Amino acid sequence: MFKVEIEDGESRLADPRFRADVLAGLARRPRAIPARWFYDHRGSELFEAITDLPEYYPTRTETALLHTVCPELTGHIGAGRAVVEFGSGSSTKTPILLGCIGPSAYVPIDISGDFLRESSRTLQARFPDLPVHPFEADFTQPLSLPAAIGDAPRLGFFPGSTIGNLTPYVAADLLRAMRGSLGDGALLLIGMDRVKPLDMLIPAYDDATGVTAAFNLNLLARINRELAGTIPLDAFRHRAIWNDARARIEMHLEATRDAAFTVAGQDFAIAAGDTIHTENSHKYGPRDARILLRAGGWTPIAEWTDPDDAFALILAEAQPIRMAP
Ligand code: AVJ
Repeated sequence: MFKVEIEDGESRLADPRFRADVLAGLARRPRAIPARWFYDHRGSELFEAITDLPEYYPTRTETALLHTVCPELTGHIGAGRAVVEFGSGSSTKTPILLGCIGPSAYVPIDISGDFLRESSRTLQARFPDLPVHPFEADFTQPLSLPAAIGDAPRLGFFPGSTIGNLTPYVAADLLRAMRGSLGDGALLLIGMDRVKPLDMLIPAYDDATGVTAAFNLNLLARINRELAGTIPLDAFRHRAIWNDARARIEMHLEATRDAAFTVAGQDFAIAAGDTIHTENSHKYGPRDARILLRAGGWTPIAEWTDPDDAFALILAEAQPIRMAP
């Protein structure tokens, strides 16, 4: 187990799942490390900075869309639902939704307890009368929700196109797990980024000022910090490519020269031009989005997009599953 230096000079133990994912990911071909490991303290700061970039349209578009559609949304959702948010990071979007629909309770679910408690406090201060029940859990598994929300009808909230990080196979599993957690009759409000022209898509993941490059490269810095790595950061560059067959942006870290390094005491080498695949961001056309939801057990009942059709908010319902015509 490795000690991790954190900012105030204290140390804690590195996450053993991070260590396992990095060691396995560097050993396999093609090399790949799951995108969830971007989000250490520095990575979360860099992601916040990405959401403010002129090139990064998703956050701004989804936030504006939520404002615009909220009155109409309330007509579909009604007051008194328990809102269950999967991943409690979206501090600016959640208040828009809660302010407009009048929920009976709010349950933010996150795997990171620290982050969860912090965002719950901020939210509670803004909605003093709303019962807030933070739930530290891995939402990729079906969960029993806190008993305190009673039998209020549920609304799942999964903004940000986070679903796009997952391959469709895994995304369908996650949607089914959410259906299992929320139960029959629940609603799900999900954000999905649309397929669009490359002159808009590529800059969103390869911005002029290099913030996304810094976000990607921070993964290597994190490995060096937390797993006693010796990766030469100057031997890697950020790449964002469009994989048309799979309708996704891929982020890679490409070696600009041959390099050798160690991580957690193990030796690795990479040849110039080879890459470490660090993220997928799948994009969904209107029909793609609906079929993914149906594959995960959710029936789309309404959807909204911005005037440029850059980003979609889809409301879906956990209707009884019908296996035959
Ligand atoms: C948080 C997964 C929605 O895929 O657009 C932004 C992450 N990566 N820039 C995305 C991300 C590079 C983002 N998601």
